[in-house]
Amino acid sequence: MPSLVDWRKFMEWAAQFGEITYLEALGQPIVVLNSSRVCLDLLVKRSGNYSDRPHMVSCAQSLFGYDNSFAISKYNDEWRLQRKIMAHNFSSSVVPRYHTPQELGARKLALDLIQNDGGENLQANIKLSVGALVMRAVYGYDVASSSDEFLSLGFQLMENLGRAFKPESFLVNFIPQLKHMPEWIPGSGFLQVVKKYKAQLEETTSKPFLWSKSNMTSNLSYHPNLCMNAISKTLTDAEEKRVALAAANALGGGLETNLSSLLMFFLAMILNPSIQQRAQEEIDRVIGHEKLPEVADTAALPYVRSIITETLRWCPALPFGIARAASADDIYEGQFIPKGSFVIPNIWEIFHDPEIFSDPMSFNPDRF
Ligand code: HEM
Repeated sequence: MPSLVDWRKFMEWAAQFGEITYLEALGQPIVVLNSSRVCLDLLVKRSGNYSDRPHMVSCAQSLFGYDNSFAISKYNDEWRLQRKIMAHNFSSSVVPRYHTPQELGARKLALDLIQNDGGENLQANIKLSVGALVMRAVYGYDVASSSDEFLSLGFQLMENLGRAFKPESFLVNFIPQLKHMPEWIPGSGFLQVVKKYKAQLEETTSKPFLWSKSNMTSNLSYHPNLCMNAISKTLTDAEEKRVALAAANALGGGLETNLSSLLMFFLAMILNPSIQQRAQEEIDRVIGHEKLPEVADTAALPYVRSIITETLRWCPALPFGIARAASADDIYEGQFIPKGSFVIPNIWEIFHDPEIFSDPMSFNPDRF
């Protein structure tokens, strides 16, 4: 059994078995969806059955304490309520409220890169830029440096989650009884990891939230932000916890995805100087030299837009999405999908299907 995130193996299997790969790991059924057609059929058209997340002992449920975070929790009322908070703050109709901070953030990033010897600290600068934007939108908090405590907590949470969410990282995912092991028995080292991750989750969920709550009316806080919007009336403890969890999810969701997408953009530009030059020519022609590009200029910059789309295709930030789970037994095109199967959208395969994207490994914005 290769690593569950071994994309090369998944691609081999997709070539061998077609649109759906079915495998089992220590009895756990895993269904990998290798085409947009089957993703649409199952995840969208049959969303009632495929909106749950995997029920892994180490990850989403009892051990690490992630069971109430809607991005990975069970599909239930709590999930709906947290998701509503998220939608209220990030649906397409409210996104324009972030355009000005995005523009200012992009300018600051450009300046930081110019001042930092052509990007010697590229990753740290992007981390700061992405983190500042997300922290501001979620908590109204101003991130001053890439070593900011709240920002570090957010990135640490994502690192922990990444490990916890890999089923093969912890044997306890496959043998749940192991969670009852006494701590003195050799092989129970994972219980220490559990304690550490739990404490870090608690800190990441509560610290920035409490900052936001106590600074709602102070001039240290940027408005509007998710927490402020959600705490517009007196909340019960359970409601407050819900807002704090929804906020932590938005924080986690926005960090690594944007960081890796921006890093891939820089990589693509370094590897393809002629594409960068063509984009620069478009910007010079459309925007001129008297001002910097703004979000409102997007429609007039089709080549730049294609570069962004191609970056997301070429190296998707979440090549296997976030796994779903089947809530009930299902039959799809004659194939049986048992209840509890982990269902993985193979975004990598779909974005690199040579029948849709010719020469898929090459970076080519002209395909859009
Ligand atoms: C390049 C940027 C991004 C990419 C590629 C990306 C990708 C994804 C994917 C593939 C999923 C799984 C969707 C599903 O299973 O239905 C997801 C879920 C999620 N993303 Fe993002 N995302 C990005 C940016 C963001 C940002 C900026 C935020 C927060 C402001 C965010 C917050 C979330 C949350 C909270 C979820 C869980 C949603 C749910 O379970 O309903 N993401 N994202």
